[in-house]
This record gives sequence, structure tokens and C-alpha cells, in this order.
Amino acid sequence: MAKKIAVLAGDGIGPEIVAEAVKVLSFLNTDMALGLSFETALVGGAAYDAFGTPLPQQTLNLCKNAEAVLLGAVGGPKWEALPHAVRPERGLLSIRSELNLFSNLRPAILYPQLVGASTLKPEVVSGLDIMIVRELTGGIYFGQPRGIRLLENGEQQGFNTLVYNESEIRRIAHSAFKTAQKRHKKLCSVDKANVLEVTELWRQVVTEVGKDYPDVQLSHMYVDNAAMQLVRAPKQFDVIVTTNMFGDILSDIAAMLTGSIGMLPSASLDANGKGMYEPIHGSAPDIAGQGIANPLATILSVAMLLRYTLNQPEAAERIEQAVNTALDAGARTPDIYSDGTTQVSTSGMGDAVLNALKG
Ligand code: NAI
Ligand code: MG
Repeated sequence: MAKKIAVLAGDGIGPEIVAEAVKVLSFLNTDMALGLSFETALVGGAAYDAFGTPLPQQTLNLCKNAEAVLLGAVGGPKWEALPHAVRPERGLLSIRSELNLFSNLRPAILYPQLVGASTLKPEVVSGLDIMIVRELTGGIYFGQPRGIRLLENGEQQGFNTLVYNESEIRRIAHSAFKTAQKRHKKLCSVDKANVLEVTELWRQVVTEVGKDYPDVQLSHMYVDNAAMQLVRAPKQFDVIVTTNMFGDILSDIAAMLTGSIGMLPSASLDANGKGMYEPIHGSAPDIAGQGIANPLATILSVAMLLRYTLNQPEAAERIEQAVNTALDAGARTPDIYSDGTTQVSTSGMGDAVLNALKG
């Protein structure tokens, strides 16, 4: 039976970039007989406009029944005045929690052709290829109780709760060790165990889980030092595993080491390797509809889909190699353009990758 891929383009530049990613995956599907079928559905602003909700039941059902979800981006000024419960971004958060996508993989890779795009010195970032594994459905972003309350003295107090159960730490640790096994077998767990009891438990459980992965070298680092080290000498890391909030911040630092947000893919996985794949950027309303968005983050998300959910590392490598070839040939969307290269449109970049795949 065909393996179903749910294709959720979203809004803004979403449809433009997803079209290029589907173009690439469709080609490989035929060329390598991957046995995939595609089914599209609305999410985000596009779904709100059609159905009055950012995540219609039929879209959620499709996501649940599919092998993997490929998502573009959602959100924009058109929907900003809406209540939070029906804002486009809520559609995305609901898919993450409904599908239990607790493991967020964010690679930060600097392509050698784009060394000049980073704000850091070439010797610090050239060859950079690290992976941040962020816990995505627990921690302080979800902990109860939370809120803003009025104290007896008339002063307001805001409060959130940082809480992790052992089982939540255990499953993200397994996910991180498995990721490290597929890479250079080096894992750094980032916490604040000197101050926060929650992360004292985190460190203890990650260490315990590590006994199941004797081939992976485990180290620990406090989050403040990790932030510093990521800017000072990012290449010391291979895989980093950390909590939801620390991961949010550290992965943005890591992403910016590479220069363009248009280059960075992500995967959000459940316990069985099912997942949602999407570029880390948003819907870029400022350039939507102009055909100039960089589709490479989405195309590289397809490579992650092949590697992590479909267990097709060879197909994943073909895509990554084709992206390299397209960049070598000088193809550049405006966000990564510099002198001596050729400006291409969104579909022009998709074609450049496709042509590289065809060889
Ligand atoms: P953004 O990532 O959409 O855009 C930031 C800047 O990067 C813009 O100047 C944009 O033109 C540029 N950019 C982004 N992707 C690009 C690409 N592929 N090629 C070339 N340039 C690109 O972030 P922003 O502007 O803060 O948010 C816009 C909307 O997207 C908001 O409604 C926000 O809530 C939503 N958003 C959605 C996300 C998602 O769907 N996963 C993630 C982040 C934001
Ligand atoms: Mg963030």
C-alpha cells in the first residue's frame, strides 16, 4: 500500500515553497520507487478563511493517518486581530500536541557556498553541521499552574511552572541518542542543573539512558555556557539535547550562525518516528506571492522526512547533494544572493535542485 504524505502548504509563502518541495519528492518517488502518495489539506490562515478554524477536523485526521506531514508556513497580518484560539499559528501548535511530536530536530548547517552569509568569522563557522534536539511538548511552555494573578498587596504576579516527568525526559533522551548514533556519536545535554532541580533530574535521567548507547559519547553543559560556546566555537558540538525553552533559544542562536533562515529545515517526531517536517521560518508575508522565497529549507525538510520517517537515507542524501550542486552552480534566491551568482525565482531554485537530481 502507498505511504501517504500529508501536504499542508499553509499560507503566505507556504504554497510557493511547498510546491517546489513536492516537485523534488515526486521526482524521487518515481525515480526510486518509494511508493509514496500525496494528499493535500488546508491549515492556518488558508483553513481559517475556508472553514473558520486553523485546523479543520479533516486536516487533523489526514495528519493522523499519514506517514508524515510536510508543512509550509502559517500566519500573517491578515489574521493578527483574531482571538488566539483561531489564529493560524494555533493550527500548528495543535498538530504538534495532537500528534505528540515531542522531539524537535533542528540542524544548523552552513553550506560552504554561503560562508559569507554568516555574521561570524569564516574560520568559526565554515563546515558547521550541528543538530539541536529540543523537547517540544513539555517544560515551562506547558507547565501548570500558570497565569497572572493579583496579590493581596495589590501587586500583580506572573507565574509559570517548569516541570518534567522522568518519562518525558527519558523519551527525548532516547530520541537524542538515536540521532547521535546516526551522526558523529557525540551528544551534549544542556541543562541548568546547578540551579534548577528539574534539570538536575534531567541530567540524571539522560545519564541513565546513556547506558543503553555506549557508542555515544555523552557530555553535559550549563545553558549559559552553551549559549556562549555556540557563538565562540560552535563546531565543538555534534548533537545537543535540551529542554523546550532552552532549545527554543539555543536553536535560534545556532540557526543564525548559518546566515539565512531560508536554508534551515526541521523535523518534529513522535515516539515511533512519525513526524511533521517544515522549514523553521514563517510565512514571510512581506515577500509572499512574489515568487522570490527560498524553497531550500522546505526541500531540505523533505530530506529529513526521507531520513527520519521513511528510513530512506540514500534518497535524503541525494536531495542534500542536489542542493549542494545547485548552490555550486550559482543558483541563488535573493536572500542568499551575492555578486557572481545567478538570481533565480522560487521555482527556478526548485528546478535547479531537480536538474541536479536528474544528473
Ligand atoms: P518569517 O520567518 O516569516 O520572516 C522573517 C524574515 O525572513 C522576513 O523578512 C522574510 O521575508 C524572511 N524569510 C523567511 N523565510 C524566507 C524564505 N524562505 N526565503 C527568503 N526569505 C525568507 O518571520 P516573521 O516575519 O516574524 O513572521 C511572519 C508570520 O509567520 C507571523 O504571522 C508568524 O507568526 C508566522 N510564523 C510562522 C511559523 C511557522 O509557520 N512555523 C514560524 C515563525 C513565524
Ligand atoms: Mg523560536
